[in-house]
Amino acid sequence: MSRLPSEFLPFRVSTLRGDQPIPFNAYVRVNNKFILFCREGDSFEGERLNRLRQKKLSRMYLLKEEAPQYDSYLKENTRRAYDSSAGAPFDVRVQIIQGALQAATEDLLDEPDSEAFVRVVDDAIKRFLGFLYDHPESLLALLNISNDDANIAQHSVSVAALATELARVMGFDETRPLEIPVLGLAASIHDLEHQHMPVTLTVPVEDLSQNELRIYKSHCKNGFARIKDLHFYPPLAKDIVRFHHEHIDGSGLEKKKEKDLDPFVFIVATADCFDQLLVRHKLTPKDAFKKMTIEQMGVVPLDCIRALQTLLKKSNLLV
Ligand SMILES: [Fe+2]
Ligand SMILES: [Fe+2]
Repeated sequence: MSRLPSEFLPFRVSTLRGDQPIPFNAYVRVNNKFILFCREGDSFEGERLNRLRQKKLSRMYLLKEEAPQYDSYLKENTRRAYDSSAGAPFDVRVQIIQGALQAATEDLLDEPDSEAFVRVVDDAIKRFLGFLYDHPESLLALLNISNDDANIAQHSVSVAALATELARVMGFDETRPLEIPVLGLAASIHDLEHQHMPVTLTVPVEDLSQNELRIYKSHCKNGFARIKDLHFYPPLAKDIVRFHHEHIDGSGLEKKKEKDLDPFVFIVATADCFDQLLVRHKLTPKDAFKKMTIEQMGVVPLDCIRALQTLLKKSNLLV
């Protein structure tokens, strides 16, 4: 018997992570029909997760009557991720945390005017930062989750992790500790306009057509316009959305120079550039860093490049 669309609820595919079997059936929607895609009992780690991600689905559906099973699956996954005594392999723990944060970020990128979604991301970021702090090996595991579908929320989570870790390497956790979570939130939304425009992260910027390049270049200004009047975003987060493609020599989109901007703007710019080289150019971390040392002089501050090198070395990402 086929079920009515009103009998289904959407959920984020990025919440399907880890070695725990799902206690519900997951459906995809094709031409208003719901087709069983993942069965109760399937789990999503390693190759299985990669195959699911290659399908480039951001949402799947479950039957409303199975919503309690989905909720308990999420709770159990979160417990297994954050509780080191729960026995989940470390990579799986990072995949679960990354997936949950990606799902929260996707919600916020879709609806940046939702104060409730800002709170969810803010809470998730704070918890995530504690995990990153306690487990320095997290960055390697996080960046090992390939972003084959150039998902903007996944890019945002990677930039948030890289930027907050860079800030720590640069000593800002001592001098501006309360602003590190703001930096994490800002990095999570820095490209929010990408969620609302037709240019994807899949190809290098130099391969975009004239029209695509024009649209791409408007993403800072238009992203900022979406949030500039919303009181629940810290001013620093708004600045980071607006200025993350500025260059220290004043040759960026709005011709701001290093002295005009908060150093956190360039920390996000550095993290963003590095992750873009992984996602758009498909480079290894080692080659991405090499390219940055050649191309980013005069774009981001030298101390950011040095901090990135320290961070990548310490995270075993330059081997
Ligand atoms: Fe950007
Ligand atoms: Fe970005």
